[in-house]
Amino acid sequence: MKGAVSSNDFSWRDANEIFERSNVASNDFKLSCDGIRPKHEYVESYWDIGTLRHRLIKPVVYDYLRNGATLIANKIANEPKVNQFARRVAEFTGRQVVSSAYAAFGERDSFRCHWNTRDVIAVREPN
Ligand SMILES: [Fe+2]
Repeated sequence: MKGAVSSNDFSWRDANEIFERSNVASNDFKLSCDGIRPKHEYVESYWDIGTLRHRLIKPVVYDYLRNGATLIANKIANEPKVNQFARRVAEFTGRQVVSSAYAAFGERDSFRCHWNTRDVIAVREPN
C-alpha cells in the first residue's frame, strides 16, 4: 500500500507531540541504544504543585539520538491521528491493532534482527 499515508496527514510535529505527551515513566516508553537504557539515565522526576511528574532529560535524550539511539513509544493511546490510522488498518485487516512510534536518525539499526509474533505495518518518513 505504498503511498497509503500522505506526509500531509502526519508530520514530524505530530510525531514529536506524541513523544512529548507520552508517559515517559511507563514501561511502554523506552530508549534503546545497545539495549534498553535504564530510566534514571534519561528521565527525571519533579514535584508540580504536590504531584510527582516525570520528564525526559532532553540533552541526554538528544545526545543518545545523535549517537544512533531509538526512542520508543509503545501502545499509543488517545492520539487522534494515530487512532484514525489504526482504525483504518483494523477495518482493512479485521484484526486488533496496536500502535507504536519509533524515532531514530542515522544509519544505526534500532534493533538486532528479530522475529515479531504479530504482523507489522511500518509507516516511515522517507529519507
Ligand atoms: Fe519488530
